[in-house]
Amino acid sequence: MTVPTDSLPTLLVVVASTRPGRVGIHVGEWFRERAEAHGQFDVRFVDLAELALPFMDEPHHPKLRRYEHQHTKDWSALVAGAHAFVFVTPEYNHGYNAVLKNALDFLHQEWQDKPVGLVSYGGIAAGTRATQQLKPVLDALRMAVAVEAVNIPFVATLMQDGAFRPTDIVDASAAAMLDELARLEFLLRPAHEAAELELVRS
Ligand SMILES: Cc1cc2nc3c(=O)[nH]c(=O)nc-3n(C[C@H](O)[C@H](O)[C@H](O)COP(=O)(O)O)c2cc1C
Repeated sequence: MTVPTDSLPTLLVVVASTRPGRVGIHVGEWFRERAEAHGQFDVRFVDLAELALPFMDEPHHPKLRRYEHQHTKDWSALVAGAHAFVFVTPEYNHGYNAVLKNALDFLHQEWQDKPVGLVSYGGIAAGTRATQQLKPVLDALRMAVAVEAVNIPFVATLMQDGAFRPTDIVDASAAAMLDELARLEFLLRPAHEAAELELVRS
């Protein structure tokens, strides 16, 4: 589906892992290039290691959007300005990583009614135990998770000379997920635009 739009929707690719030596940054960079080549999004990129949010330190519920800290206001602006997301997540102890949960919890309405695609990686389970834990959290934030996903097994074997080199199957799954994100974004845009309008009015 080619989305009929004057300006391309913004897709924010979020790299969740932050540890020194992580493969996540390389998987994220590959996905960013893949999304740019797809051509239906204005692709932005955020590395949670660089964003360096503290543990959640806002006194009010994020639903109120009464943020006190500049780091929250900046994160809010970045997320509010995106129409769709891709979370690139590792699997740590059969779950997704704590840094991603913290970044999600900081905000609320900025995520709402927007599509999200999941890129996961790990060993034999390809990070799918992490994404299964992530999905109820994304439901709570009223995000629409694309059924098409990128699940990368034995990610270490796909690293060559410091870059992630996907198999054909992984590459094809990225294309399918991006197509679905474009479709969902087109369908959901009236909903999150209405929510933004409501916020401006209130
Ligand atoms: C704390 C920790 C827990 C891990 N737990 C799992 C796991 O449950 N399942 C799995 O497939 N791999 C697990 N691994 C291996 C990771 O898949 C692998 O180290 C991967 O590179 C982690 O992503 P990162 O390099 O972006 O941090 C774990 C790694 C770490 C550091």
